[in-house]
Amino acid sequence: MPQMIKNDKLPAEQSIYAARAAALAARKYGENPKACVVTFGCQQNVSDSERMKGMLVRSGYTLTENMSEAHFILFNTCAVREHAEDRVYGNIGTTKALKNANPEIIVAVCGCMAQRQSVADKIKRSYPYVDMVFGTQVQHRLPEFIYRRLSGGGRIFELSLDNGEIPEDVPIKRDGTFKGWLPVMYGCDNFCTYCIVPYVRGRERSREPERIIAEASDMIASGFKDITLLGQNVNSYGKGEPHGVDFAELLKRINALDGDFRIRFMTSHPKDCTKRLIDTIRDCEKVSSHLHLPFQSGSDRILKRMNRRYTRESYLELISYAKENIPDLSLTSDIIVGFPGETYEDFCETLSLVKEVEFSSLFTFIYSPREGTPAAAMEDPVSREEKGRWFSELLRVQEDIAKRNIVKHIGKTYRVLCDGFSQSEGFMTGHNSGTTEIEFEGSAEMLGKFVNVTVKKYDGALYGTVTE
Ligand code: 5AD
Ligand code: SF4
Repeated sequence: MPQMIKNDKLPAEQSIYAARAAALAARKYGENPKACVVTFGCQQNVSDSERMKGMLVRSGYTLTENMSEAHFILFNTCAVREHAEDRVYGNIGTTKALKNANPEIIVAVCGCMAQRQSVADKIKRSYPYVDMVFGTQVQHRLPEFIYRRLSGGGRIFELSLDNGEIPEDVPIKRDGTFKGWLPVMYGCDNFCTYCIVPYVRGRERSREPERIIAEASDMIASGFKDITLLGQNVNSYGKGEPHGVDFAELLKRINALDGDFRIRFMTSHPKDCTKRLIDTIRDCEKVSSHLHLPFQSGSDRILKRMNRRYTRESYLELISYAKENIPDLSLTSDIIVGFPGETYEDFCETLSLVKEVEFSSLFTFIYSPREGTPAAAMEDPVSREEKGRWFSELLRVQEDIAKRNIVKHIGKTYRVLCDGFSQSEGFMTGHNSGTTEIEFEGSAEMLGKFVNVTVKKYDGALYGTVTE
């Protein structure tokens, strides 16, 4: 229903800019202007980049992975840890030589890091060859920014946040052909004390269910078999919206669409993940048996300081419920080691939780102070070396668990999506409905298809054979 669609004026405006930008780019660069998009960070950024690639194509550019031949270079950045930011600065630095060789090319920086005022100021001061810096909530205005710069306007710094806009109706150039991302909400309201995300992505905003269903239907019609719904905290999807559709209901509606496909989602927050959601995963045959539920720390004292708003006990209760209800469940999580004030005793509680739950895999991070977050101002007496030792201990524990558990797959038969093919070895890689990766003999035309595979052995990887 058109009246439910937000921002219906913007796309028309942007498509005029795109057409004008295309004409200017052709005049300036000749027949075939090229654009290169370099993405750092999480899947949300990958998804944003797919939308910006779509807008670049609409603005007359052909995409290239080779930065040195590009006329437009875009860095979509991540601010979640310091290391990510350092890598971005290194990458931006390499464009200086390109720009010296051809001053007509445009260099742009966007995403979470660009949204930070201190970063934008630093780029303004110290990186004069960067033409434009724009934040996370104005990405759908990319055609306008390109037009402004190509038509002789000055450097662009657009960082406005929290105008509540959701980038609808933008063209999308997806990276994959059968595995894809589908954003359902943007922003985060949780303010975990270590995390920069709420400051750079703004308040939570959910897309209209009709928009999401329409995009899912499009993806299914064009052959997508594995669709991951994205949001910083998908469990708060729909909160405060008049449509009354929550995340569990959204999953049910996508599950009801015709077609042979799989639905995944990330990320869930333990404080909002309900038994109803777990029941929904169990009951919807197209929803994969995977739950990514970051617990960050096993110590209640640290969870409190992190402002996570759940306890070790409530987390473990949720996990038991999920394990009891979802057969062959893959459980994954994020953990931060060395949060300010964390002691070895606190860390041991993280270790014991890892041992108790036995996750399929873990994403582990050493705490990285982010300027402007409450945790960055907390006392942090433990040295980096000490945190590094704890981190290694955690990795060893998880490796042992993973080794012990992986052989449990031997003898089982799974429905697997063929998603990677090595021509030289004739080997296909596929994933089951959880996160288990299996290799088996196959051929390129099987890519993107579901097959049944029986796991035969483990030898550094799981190997299986296709069965009927
Ligand atoms: N330092 C280290 N890890 C962090 N994460 C978020 N902020 C920080 C930080 N300041 C981790 C959390 C989150 C994941 C995406 O990144 O574990 O779940
Ligand atoms: Fe960051 Fe916490 Fe929001 Fe996740 S839920 S994005 S860790 S503030």
